[in-house]
Amino acid sequence: MFPRDFAWGAGTAAYQIEGGWQADSKGPSIWDTFCHEKGKVFGDQNGDVACNSYELWEKDLECIQKLGLTHYRFSLSWSRLLPEGTTRHVNQKGVQYYNKVIDDLLACNVSPMVTLYHFDLPQALQDQGGWKSPSTASLFDSYAKFCFQMFGDRVKLWITINEPYVCAKLGHEDGIHAPGLKEPGTTAYLVGHNMLRAHAMAWQSYDSLYRSKQGGQVSLAINSDWVEPFSTDCNEDIAATERYLAFSLGWFAWPVFVTGDYPEIMRSAIDAQSRKLGHKDSSRLPSFSKDEPSVLGTADFFALNYYTSRKVKPGGGCGRMMCMKSDRDAAEVLDPSWPICGVSWLAVVPYGLRKLLKYIKDTFNNPTVYITENGFSQLGPVEIEDVQRAEFYKDTILKVAEAIQEDGVRVRGYFAWSLLDNFEWADGFSVRFGLFHVDFADEMRSRTVYRSGQEYAKMILKHKLGK
Ligand code: GAL
Repeated sequence: MFPRDFAWGAGTAAYQIEGGWQADSKGPSIWDTFCHEKGKVFGDQNGDVACNSYELWEKDLECIQKLGLTHYRFSLSWSRLLPEGTTRHVNQKGVQYYNKVIDDLLACNVSPMVTLYHFDLPQALQDQGGWKSPSTASLFDSYAKFCFQMFGDRVKLWITINEPYVCAKLGHEDGIHAPGLKEPGTTAYLVGHNMLRAHAMAWQSYDSLYRSKQGGQVSLAINSDWVEPFSTDCNEDIAATERYLAFSLGWFAWPVFVTGDYPEIMRSAIDAQSRKLGHKDSSRLPSFSKDEPSVLGTADFFALNYYTSRKVKPGGGCGRMMCMKSDRDAAEVLDPSWPICGVSWLAVVPYGLRKLLKYIKDTFNNPTVYITENGFSQLGPVEIEDVQRAEFYKDTILKVAEAIQEDGVRVRGYFAWSLLDNFEWADGFSVRFGLFHVDFADEMRSRTVYRSGQEYAKMILKHKLGK
């Protein structure tokens, strides 16, 4: 079955649950700014209060205990700790808040997994160029060192950056996430590059300054769908599938786990497209400098966020415009036999997770893996008896067990997304991923366990008892 010390977790992120956007002296983040502009988020909603976890943390702790989690993944709000983004001004109230969260978890025998960055850059740093600016990487490194120093005596699992793909693409290419930039074909590559540099610097800092004393592990959370060729015997579809993977998982995993550089398929596809459009300047995909420490080897485990699967064939570009989709030349097709749950992009494909885990084992030299996010969403009327989601968790956890036992993948933990219904980015509160329902109309933001939460708790208990 599952290893004895398997991590059974659930996750959240600061902006999605905390609220208290101006409480004590928290500084604004790019998500505060983005949501306060009209027309950006479903119903012009925002995370000003969200689940109000800044004030109601004890309620979250009760939820965590009710599920019997061994681990809880949450993120620190950079601008709550450092309102202007730099260590020149530290908000002690922010430090106290996270100290309490960590101490309470440990007192309940729950291990924290802490994400340093989950989409919410301090606005002060965005004003200086944000992730487009190379110097944001060193500012991130200073922030990371500050966090290791403050909390690393108790936190042993760290995620530097959550989903650099989503930050880069949705935030800077599509403009549907903060900071809302629509600069297709260039900026996402630059932002992804600076995020990788930031991650590598923070890992190096941990390795040289904190690891021997604190003994923790550091990685970055990489999201990827599982993909298969639309026609398994069509060479074009097979090539498109490889390109798709190179532009998602490979973009961040290849430099860190394989070569210290981007997948060759990715660079040649981008450069070929540049030539086609008559751009003769240097590659739009940046290169890693020899003067900086390599990004290769800067992960102590593989952190995977998996939600869905796709079939792939060539296509899906944007005509004569420059954009990432044209560079990738890989169109996504949904298999009609896959059920869609809630949001339109989320086809339920538990076996895709097993396949992706095996692929990670084979491609990235059999790393230990934590599944840092996986979940199922609900739209429309609230269904506390969410039988479908409960089934989804059962099916998916079975696939994880098979990946461990039959494929020999070294999976060390599984974190359901999410502990609570929360602010689902551009979808606001219309999409619910929680194991607990949160009543956003209630001032107390009451939390009610879903059927899926109860079933997840039973599964955890069963595995803890070695059954
Ligand atoms: C991820 C993200 C989470 C959560 C989830 C569900 O991309 O890291 O914050 O929103 O998707 O859509």
